[in-house]
Amino acid sequence: MVCCTARCQKWTTFSLSGVFVVLGILTICFWDSLFHNIFVHEMSLANSRTKGYEMWKETPNSIFFNWTNPEQVHNASAKPKFVECGPYTYYEHHIRENVTFNSNNTVSFFTKKLWKFLPERSVGSLKDKITTLNPIVATVGQLVRYKHYIVRRGVNFFIEEKKEQLAITKTIAEFIFDGYEDPLLDLVHKLNISSFKVPYSKFGWFADRNGSVTYDGAFNMYNGADDIEKLGIMTTWNYQNRTQYYRDGCGNIDGTTGELWYPPRGIETIKLFSSDLCSSIELEKSSDYMLHGLEGK
Ligand SMILES: *[C@@H]1O[C@H](CO)[C@@H](O)[C@H](O)[C@H]1NC(C)=O
Ligand SMILES: *[C@@H]1O[C@H](CO)[C@@H](O)[C@H](O)[C@H]1NC(C)=O
Ligand SMILES: *[C@@H]1O[C@H](CO)[C@@H](O)[C@H](O)[C@H]1NC(C)=O
Ligand SMILES: *[C@@H]1O[C@H](CO)[C@@H](O)[C@H](O)[C@H]1NC(C)=O
Ligand SMILES: *[C@@H]1O[C@H](CO)[C@@H](O)[C@H](O)[C@H]1NC(C)=O
Ligand SMILES: *[C@@H]1O[C@H](CO)[C@@H](O)[C@H](O)[C@H]1NC(C)=O
Ligand SMILES: *[C@@H]1O[C@H](CO)[C@@H](O)[C@H](O)[C@H]1NC(C)=O
Repeated sequence: MVCCTARCQKWTTFSLSGVFVVLGILTICFWDSLFHNIFVHEMSLANSRTKGYEMWKETPNSIFFNWTNPEQVHNASAKPKFVECGPYTYYEHHIRENVTFNSNNTVSFFTKKLWKFLPERSVGSLKDKITTLNPIVATVGQLVRYKHYIVRRGVNFFIEEKKEQLAITKTIAEFIFDGYEDPLLDLVHKLNISSFKVPYSKFGWFADRNGSVTYDGAFNMYNGADDIEKLGIMTTWNYQNRTQYYRDGCGNIDGTTGELWYPPRGIETIKLFSSDLCSSIELEKSSDYMLHGLEGK
């Protein structure tokens, strides 16, 4: 300090504490609006320099039933037996790509997802073999269920010819990321029916998805710059405001992507859009909780 007399020090201390008391009172009085302003400023995705943008651009994030009596499938009095196995845990990393800030207070982007197997958090290995319902045969069966007898006979003949069964045994790796080739899938590709396009060559619940920028589709959502309450709410997915898979309200693109939204107090439900479901879902609040001394509502 420049001035160093005892009187001066006292005066400085006194005036500084005065300033802090006044600041404190002001902060208490204006905390809500101060908080709101900082929050709005930092959380909106108005541009790539806000905290909200940093948090949202990359977000980290993570099961099978073994069918043990498939030989009883034609036995009407037998119940199928399923034994739970796993979990097989992956680390899921989201990276936003091609982020464009639009003049209408929206942001457009793609989401690239990367997965990494976490053996220490898993029970079992990816080489475990399990038996489950053959998703392709089951889907084809469902598709031709009400078709003409001749169509059903044809499909049935083909399934028998290719020795496809309603039960299928593969490794966990094949079911998840590696995928496996399937004669019925091949046939669907060869038939090239415009109303029934299968966008993948191999079957696996997550095949072709690791590292793909476009798989999850093109998102457009409000960035909260004009109205923080709209932060994160989807406007379009794949350039449309509806999905073609469900009728009425179930096909609406509604809610947030589930990663970022304006947290009003006393929120009872949140609406999320899931590109995996091609639909929006509503989650209900279950309880309040405390974390690191902060109240979560
Ligand atoms: C699934 O069940 C089969 C027999 O039904 C068994 O050989 C196999 O090891 C089981 N897989 C796992 C992962 O437990
Ligand atoms: C069919 O299932 C019932 C009930 O589980 C069982 O008692 C019977 O032995 C089964 N029949 C055959 C042929 O496996
Ligand atoms: C992402 O941006 C790059 C460069 O601007 C462009 O070449 C690419 O086609 C874009 N990707 C998509 C899926 O639009
Ligand atoms: C905002 O502009 C972008 C880019 O022009 C467009 O894709 C999007 O549909 C627009 N959104 C709204 C809600 O108007
Ligand atoms: C996904 O891709 C990344 C990068 O290419 C790779 O490191 C990772 O092992 C892949 N994950 C799986 C489950 O194949
Ligand atoms: C599938 O059909 C479309 C027209 O419906 C055609 O343009 C395309 O080349 C066909 N693909 C194959 C692999 O035959
Ligand atoms: C969805 O888009 C269509 C035109 O593409 C428009 O007529 C309709 O009003 C939009 N619906 C909503 C809920 O924005």
